Amino acid sequence: MSAGGQPGHWPYPRWIAHRGAGKLAPENTLAAFRLGAERGYRMYECDAKLSADGVVFLLHDATLDRTTNGSGVAGDQAWATLSQLDAGGWHSHAFAGEALPTLAALARHCQAHGHWLNIEIKPTPGTELATGRAVAQLAAHEWARDPGRTPLLTSFQPDALRGAMETAPHLPRGLLLDTWWDGWMDVARSLECVALVCNHALWDASTVALAQEAGLRTLAYTVNDEWAAQRLLDLGLDGIITDRIDLFPPSR
Ligand code: G3P
Ligand code: CA
Repeated sequence: MSAGGQPGHWPYPRWIAHRGAGKLAPENTLAAFRLGAERGYRMYECDAKLSADGVVFLLHDATLDRTTNGSGVAGDQAWATLSQLDAGGWHSHAFAGEALPTLAALARHCQAHGHWLNIEIKPTPGTELATGRAVAQLAAHEWARDPGRTPLLTSFQPDALRGAMETAPHLPRGLLLDTWWDGWMDVARSLECVALVCNHALWDASTVALAQEAGLRTLAYTVNDEWAAQRLLDLGLDGIITDRIDLFPPSR
């Protein structure tokens, strides 16, 4: 957190495409990030976790069943197996054969197009610290060639952010909150977070003021309705994560 409640440098666009393109393409695939870009988005949220052999790749769930043709705990499988899965056919025929991407591949994609990334560290349960370390190490390496476009690392898991902070303290961190649990402020402070990324229903004038006084940038997920988006814009939020890339032009 910034000393004295003063907000630090914040280069990120306000509008962020959730999992690449929301629900219009298979989440967390390169096809989704390409579609988000076609709709004018310049920043994306993604979910990153570890394969059994230490490769950082993109997947939201702990298991493969919902969004691939595989099954079981994704983090128990080696990348050689994961890389062969179809992560697009579940969504629609048009995306059949789309692969699970590595975070390194997404880094190259973002850098080639001058886009920004919010990497949510989404550990397989029990691997929080290791996943935070691995994501931060990879991000520090990949973005060393594009230091002006450093990704924002976020997590619901304080241990994951702790691993990231220990490994690459210069990468900005944000704490994700679905509820205001006791001690969140102390945790955000100890993790030297620059942002608070909340379920959008948690934000109101008083919570925005509390975060801003603590020097934290304010972001909300997952904002899919016009009334919710307008409420957050009126509150002056710094970031809005949405599935509805078809409804909200990022120039708004
Ligand atoms: O990072 C914001 C949002 O993605 C958190 O929720 O479940 O969609 O990963 P979830
Ligand atoms: Ca996420």
